[in-house]
Amino acid sequence: MSDPVVTMEKIVNLCKRRGFVFQSSEIYGGLNSCYDYGPLGVELKRNVKEAWWRDTVTTRPDVVGVDCSILMHPRVWEASGHVASFSDPMVDCKLCKGRFRADHIDQLRCPKQPSKKPGECDGELTEPRSFNLMFKTHMGPVEDSGAAIYLRPETAQGIFVNFVNVVNSARMKPPFGIAQMGKSFRNEITPGNFLFRTREFEQMELEFFVPPGSDDGWYAYWQQRRMQWYTDYGIKADRLRLRAHASDELAHYAKGCADVEYQFPIGWQELEGIANRTDYDLKQHIEYSGKDLSFFDEQSKERFVPYVIEPSAGADRGTLAFLVDSYDEDGPDNDRRAVLRLHPALAPVKLAIFPLMKRDGLGEKAMEIADSLRAHFAVAYDQSGSIGRRYRRQDEIGTPLGVTVDYDTMKDGTVTLRDRDTMAQERVPIDSLYEIVRAKVAPPVNRAALRPPA
Ligand code: GAP
Repeated sequence: MSDPVVTMEKIVNLCKRRGFVFQSSEIYGGLNSCYDYGPLGVELKRNVKEAWWRDTVTTRPDVVGVDCSILMHPRVWEASGHVASFSDPMVDCKLCKGRFRADHIDQLRCPKQPSKKPGECDGELTEPRSFNLMFKTHMGPVEDSGAAIYLRPETAQGIFVNFVNVVNSARMKPPFGIAQMGKSFRNEITPGNFLFRTREFEQMELEFFVPPGSDDGWYAYWQQRRMQWYTDYGIKADRLRLRAHASDELAHYAKGCADVEYQFPIGWQELEGIANRTDYDLKQHIEYSGKDLSFFDEQSKERFVPYVIEPSAGADRGTLAFLVDSYDEDGPDNDRRAVLRLHPALAPVKLAIFPLMKRDGLGEKAMEIADSLRAHFAVAYDQSGSIGRRYRRQDEIGTPLGVTVDYDTMKDGTVTLRDRDTMAQERVPIDSLYEIVRAKVAPPVNRAALRPPA
């Protein structure tokens, strides 16, 4: 990676130590590839999802949202092709019985001899075989095959099966989109790299329905728009790239697909896929359900099955990218500072309030200011340790602003405001704090993004 300051190990340690992310079921030895978000992590991830929802749904006239159930009719997954072909090639090591994704062998390590790849050790690998990634369970008290049901492996299908419900109830007309965020489950053969590949994760997906023939323009538009979203929220442009799939990488139904990739410490990896899924999904559901999912345009008097442009992002992968990208260290060797330079709109805590001393009414005054702002922002109050140490604790979790209440505050109603990034300090009246913080944490506005393709 070009930036030697940030390593995956530092991010994992910071996440554990400061309460962003914990191993799931840790007191029982942990559950492989499952993670719990702690008090700061849950706020960060909520802010990432809110930023996506805001940009994709609430600031647009042409997108609405849904929140579908995780359990769906099993026929959905037959129609979508997941039952037949949502699988990865798997190989087993005959010696250690380890199981590996055959197409990831180059990036994997033998569990017994970590200096070697699987198959390069003394063990021999089996021929690859297909492993379906869907988690299967049973609905109701009887565990027979008729009651088999799947945990959804993507949120997209909930959108397709509700296409007509949304058209009729929200009076939407292509080009328009339906968005959904929520949990998805995949029984990944080789999960790993912390939040990057897990078996339970959250997706943020948009299915944008367009008249056939206008799909190329919208496909280009959404690629540009999604790249812009990451940089608007602070991801460094030189660590982000768009990689178009070669024709032999494309799913059989896709006309085009491009991945937004981020340069993690583990190398360039997919953050999000943007696909032109054609009319494949709606046509499959028309066939399997027997229901008419076409759209009749009253103006042109034409009936058509819309094409779909799908930007599909991972909320956990995105959160990891924002953590990695914002991590920085500065200062001399003997006074090193770790700082998360998160976009203020994403920061889990917006403002920290510190009384210089606990005594002489400073503590009470600081608490009063904290309470008055807590109704509007996530506010931290910290009265322990030196002011310098308190600033550092907030820098490390990305708090953009710090306020110190001192003896002058009691005389003239002003406080010291400190900026996380520049560490510059200025004196401001308490009454101006609300407006200052509001302006600082406001989400980016990109009006140009609302323009549809020519
Ligand atoms: N509906 C299309 C779809 O699901 P995908 O490329 O399989 O496409 C979209 O998944 C995004 O979901 C990925 O780019 C990634 O961010 C996230 N994702 C997929 N599998 C994941 C996993 N095992 N762990 C974490 N995130 C994952």
